[in-house]
Amino acid sequence: MSVPPPPEPITGARLLFSLDPAVSHLNHGSFGAVPIVVQRAQQRLRDEMEADPLRFFTRGLVDRITHTRRHLAGFLGADPDGAALTTNATTGVAVVLQSLGLRPGDEVLTTDHGYGAVEFSVRRECRRTGATHRVLRLPLAATDEEVVQIVRAGLRPGRTRLLVIDQITSATAWLLPAAAIAGVAREQGVSVLVDAAHAPGMLPATVQSIGADFWVGNLHKWGYAPRGTALLVVARPWRERIEPLVVSWEQEAGFPGRVEWQATADYTAWLSAPVGLYTLRSLGLDRVREHNAALAAYGQRVVGDALGVSPADLPDPGGPTVAMRIIPLPAGLATSIDAARALRERIAERLATQVAVTAWDGRGWLRLCGQVYNSPDEYERLAARLPALLAQR
Ligand SMILES: Cc1ncc(COP(=O)(O)O)c(C=O)c1O
Repeated sequence: MSVPPPPEPITGARLLFSLDPAVSHLNHGSFGAVPIVVQRAQQRLRDEMEADPLRFFTRGLVDRITHTRRHLAGFLGADPDGAALTTNATTGVAVVLQSLGLRPGDEVLTTDHGYGAVEFSVRRECRRTGATHRVLRLPLAATDEEVVQIVRAGLRPGRTRLLVIDQITSATAWLLPAAAIAGVAREQGVSVLVDAAHAPGMLPATVQSIGADFWVGNLHKWGYAPRGTALLVVARPWRERIEPLVVSWEQEAGFPGRVEWQATADYTAWLSAPVGLYTLRSLGLDRVREHNAALAAYGQRVVGDALGVSPADLPDPGGPTVAMRIIPLPAGLATSIDAARALRERIAERLATQVAVTAWDGRGWLRLCGQVYNSPDEYERLAARLPALLAQR
């Protein structure tokens, strides 16, 4: 079967990273990869912190955090006064959930594409407060209009307090119509939390235009920031109701300071995050985005082809902008979380290739990412060797 050609490589980009050259890293989506220049920037900040900890923490650190937050919010098209730096998307979700004041009779609605840890968080908050958790099923083949219809029909105004949707789903790499969904929820008086863990750096800046009550995105995936860097964006009416998970010295300062200041912690990841964005911009934001999405699409085709999946059966719910693609695995493989984890580890060990393997909707899926440090031959090598590995059950 003929496969469309891969994108032009971004020459030399691999040298920006310190990734093990003996491994194919086709899973940027899970934990990202930090460019060397960003690692160095963070190390310089740590050196400064260790040279005089008292000075580092007490002279201007809050202002430096504010400056960084404004920079990141500007990059993401978010209101800088409505944004708070946080450690990761999971923390941002937990901050929102426990600020809602859920009560018995309230309901939180998620979808069957939601991220596992976020689902656990919703479940726990519902158990703690007596609220209920309901999961809305979204068929992978649904169009944007159908998704909006399903959501509209699924909301129970007066009862549904929060709808949690992903901007880009993890297991299925689906770009959901977040703005349209938020619009429908708004019409019905339901608050919306957009889990945008994968959006910063991958999608153009759009936070404000989505119009969600809450949005949280990781900079440490596609934004090349050190791990532990995320931005929680909160609509104006909610800001003063947002409570941090840990109360510390900025509590009286209100939002966002009270969310950001988490006592004695290492704030150097946040402060070096702008260097990650600088790296992205230096490579050319559009060029990186187009390259990564096209390379993931190429990888999906060559690996899908090798596994005997026809192009018509390769899902494309992310469209041309998402740098992650999924491939259905042969029936019976990786159908549970444990089996998916075991298969991912077997692929890593035997084929020296890092991929994501997920169990979703009763079957196993392989998720491949494209990033500037990847090249077409890495997907071709996987395609050549994966069928034999999967055949050894
Ligand atoms: C959709 C989604 N939400 C949340 C997360 C969690 O991100 P973090 O571990 O940075 O909190 C991920 C991680 O991959 C994700 O894909």
